[in-house]
Amino acid sequence: MNRIFSGIQPTGNLHLGNYLGAIRNWVKLQKDYDCIFCVVDLHAITLPQDPAQLKAATREVTAAYIASGIDPEACILFNQSTVSGHAELAWILGCLTPLGWLNRMTQFKEKAGKQREEAGLGLYAYPALMAADILLYKGTHVPVGEDQKQHLELARDLAGAFNRRYGVEFFPLPEPQIFGAATRVMSLRDGTKKMSKSDASDQSRINLTDGPEAIAQKVKRAKTDPGNLPEDLKGLEGRPEAENLLGIYAALTDKTMEQAVAEFAGQQFSAFKPRLADVAVSVMGPIGTEMKRLMADPGYVDGILRRGAERANAIAAPHLREVFDIVGFLRP
Ligand code: TYM
Repeated sequence: MNRIFSGIQPTGNLHLGNYLGAIRNWVKLQKDYDCIFCVVDLHAITLPQDPAQLKAATREVTAAYIASGIDPEACILFNQSTVSGHAELAWILGCLTPLGWLNRMTQFKEKAGKQREEAGLGLYAYPALMAADILLYKGTHVPVGEDQKQHLELARDLAGAFNRRYGVEFFPLPEPQIFGAATRVMSLRDGTKKMSKSDASDQSRINLTDGPEAIAQKVKRAKTDPGNLPEDLKGLEGRPEAENLLGIYAALTDKTMEQAVAEFAGQQFSAFKPRLADVAVSVMGPIGTEMKRLMADPGYVDGILRRGAERANAIAAPHLREVFDIVGFLRP
């Protein structure tokens, strides 16, 4: 059976990168797979979070899933901390994770920054928890943006390490699914930096809750370079802003990068940007409106999460019992 597991951290400022790199693809995949989409609150606290904001952001991510077109009946939507198996399996996998593997993780290096000695154990062990998320459900496919690739390689390695250590074929090796023209959406202020929830500049990203005016204005102010748009793909080399904006346009209009480049070949940014703004407003505007409507009804959102937790736990609990048995934990 093919099962998808993926998730987003409830750390505020959900943006176009999260939508194009992840959620949008989930919407397309939901009819062909058995899908579990998680709001990963345990991951969120690897960096300090305000408790009230964490709760609000958990509802916000859930609202974004539904507003984007994920069917909460067909798919399981829940928040990670409601299924205790995530933390339990993470411990077991952590005991199989060599420090050398964790030391290679670029996200840890970026997030810990210069204060490496101050960084928490949770931030360091983060990839083992992510592996547990997927393996707890025997997930086979994991649709994510490009930045999660290294974590997924570690999840595959850990699945293999568990199977080898105990001489079993228990966990499938999960496959990353990274596709579309926008697997790595870059900042609107700097085409060499990833669009990110934590960027201090709100102008660097299109938030899922931005209204039409804010979206249009951010596109208009997006950084460009002095040239015209290139004639072909090769002409994008060394032009990160042009590449990023054309990639966003391609993804939003369901075109390939080749098609997007051909459409605007040789034109000025001043001709392209209004088209991009129109497309962004027409795709993102209704999602933002629906998100706000859902966020105004926390009872509904919480009900979806509660039901999702029950369904998730019904899959997770028997897997975890088998893992305990394989590992040798006595159930007296
Ligand atoms: P997170 O919350 O940072 O991001 C959620 C999803 O959005 C994608 N993404 C992007 N895609 C394209 N361009 C960008 N600028 C961009 N920024 C973010 C991410 O690749 C991701 O797919 N560790 C994960 C959450 C997680 C998870 C999991 C994912 C926890 N457990 C198990 C898959 C399976 C994270 O921090 O994503």
